[in-house]
Order: sequence, then structure tokens, then C-alpha cells
Amino acid sequence: MKVGFIGTGSMGSILIEALIQSGALEPEQVTAINRTPQKAQLLAAQYEGLHVASTIAEVIEHSHIVFLCIKPMEYKKVVDEIAQCDRPDLILVSITSPVLIEHLESQLKCKIAKIIPSITNYVWSGASIGMYGSRIQTEDRLLLEQLMMSISRPIQISEEYTRITSDLCSCGPAFISFFLEKWVEAAVEVTGIDKKEATRLACEMVHGTGKLLTEGGFTPEQLKQRVAVPGGITAEALRLLQNQLEGVFHQLIQVTHAKYEEDLEKVHHVFYGQEVNRPQY
Ligand SMILES: NC(=O)c1ccc[n+]([C@@H]2O[C@H](COP(=O)([O-])OP(=O)(O)OC[C@H]3O[C@@H](n4cnc5c(N)ncnc54)[C@H](OP(=O)(O)O)[C@@H]3O)[C@@H](O)[C@H]2O)c1
Repeated sequence: MKVGFIGTGSMGSILIEALIQSGALEPEQVTAINRTPQKAQLLAAQYEGLHVASTIAEVIEHSHIVFLCIKPMEYKKVVDEIAQCDRPDLILVSITSPVLIEHLESQLKCKIAKIIPSITNYVWSGASIGMYGSRIQTEDRLLLEQLMMSISRPIQISEEYTRITSDLCSCGPAFISFFLEKWVEAAVEVTGIDKKEATRLACEMVHGTGKLLTEGGFTPEQLKQRVAVPGGITAEALRLLQNQLEGVFHQLIQVTHAKYEEDLEKVHHVFYGQEVNRPQY
């Protein structure tokens, strides 16, 4: 199986590196292209045998599956180029939430899937979200899931939940890191503890918490209750968080969904030249 990547920026290079390092792909199975060629050439220098293409047609020609790892507003130009060398057996995978499967199916005759990865996949961990277009057959889905299984836990969802699942799976690492950053900053300011030491403790705690929640049989609610014994210090602190964070997560979802709708509208306009009906959140 040959796999192509259009765009080797942050996410494209993470996917390529994780898939090669996990052993799912040999460098010889990968063809990549990037607008600024040096980024793809750096990967080729690191992974001997990885082929850097000079045109999108070359990537398509050499690949059974092609990942589109570009930003939403870069899609139309790339899709127009793919249309020139499109073929029905090609599996094209978008990793971008505001580009809908219907946008791509309307312009191309190949098989379309959407897989939203997460930076956590770099360490072969976390989920990846799979959505499959009308031309994807069971064997195509299984092939994609098998590929993603080497670096993530693939979870299939309905496309209407693209944004909220992307929030949880892909934005989540940034949200949790922000929480840790602020907590460590406060720990240093209030107590004078060494920042490196506090950061290490907090990071190990997140690692262990993740294990308990994925392998240890705990739900978040059970874990919280297990630690926060009644009348204890944790319970006192949780009461503070409960009060201070009231409504924050609803607002967070409103913000991500509003930005998603804005991007979706722009993409829709570029693909169809018309406005999209915006749902209210
Ligand atoms: N970052 C994440 O954690 C994450 C997680 C899940 C999904 N995603 C999605 O992944 C997509 C890419 O995000 P990113 O963070 O990887 O962005 P990025 O770092 O900007 O990477 C995009 C890459 O695409 C290249 N590119 C643009 N147009 C091209 C073209 N016509 N042909 C070939 N290459 C082209 C760019 O080249 P240049 O070097 O010339 O700019 C750039 O290297 C976004 O839609 C994002 O929503 C990201």
C-alpha cells in the first residue's frame, strides 16, 4: 500500500513520522509534497526512501491513499488540481473539520473520508475520528482504520459531530496544557517551588490520570470521587473549581463552534459560491 501526503506542515509531518516510526509504513511507501518544498525534503532526509513529489499529480499517481494535510482555505486549489488526475479507486482523506465530505464528493470522483487526528497520535496514543463518504466501501474503511490503529484509537462518528469531537480529541491537548501551564505558574508564584519540578509532577499526573481513565476502568466522575474524599482538601478545592468554572465549558463549545461555522461558510463559498445555512449554538 502506498500513501501520499499533500502538506507536510505540523499535522502532515506528525502523521508521516508517527506512521513510519510505528512501523505501519516504510519510508518507501510514502510520497509527500509541500508548497514550500524544504519541509518535505527535510522529512526525506530523515527517512531514507521517502519520495518527495514535485506535483500533486505525481502524489496521486504513486498512492492508493492520499491525506490532505492543508488548511481549509487551501483546499479548493488543491482539489481543482486533484480533479485533473482523479480516479475512482483513490482514497482521499481530509484531516480538516470545516471541509465537508460533500464538498469533496461534489468535485471529485474518488472515495472520500475524513479523519481528524490529534497531536497525541505522535506518540501512538489518543483517538482519531473517522467519517466516511458514500463511496467508501467496508474494506476501504477497514484499511484506513487499520492504518490509524497503529498510531491511535480510531473512533467512527457521524459528520454532524465533527466539531465537538475535534474539540475533545484534537484541541483537548492544548486546553489541558493551558490548564497545567496556569496551575504551574500559580504554584511557582505562590509557593516558590522550582518550575521544572512542578511541571514534571503535573505532567506525570496527567499521564497517570490518562492511564486510569483509559486502562484503569475509571470514568472521570468515579476518579474524581475516589480522590476527593468527603471533608478532605481535594473536595474543598473542587468546590472552588465548580463555582469558578460555571458556564466556562458551554462558552468554550460556543467559541469553537462559532469559529467552525465561520470557516465552514468561507469554504462553502469557495466551493459553491453561496452562503451556508448556519445552525445556532
Ligand atoms: N495541528 C493540529 O493539532 C491538527 C489536528 C487535527 C487536524 N488539523 C488540521 O490539519 C490541517 C493542517 O494543519 P497544520 O497545523 O498542519 O497546518 P500547517 O502547519 O500550516 O500545514 C499546512 C501545510 O500545507 C502546505 N500547503 C498549503 N498549500 C499547499 C499546496 N497547494 N500544496 C502542497 N502543500 C500545501 C503548507 O505549506 P507551506 O509550508 O508553504 O505553508 C503547510 O506546510 C488544518 O486544517 C487543521 O485543522 C490540525
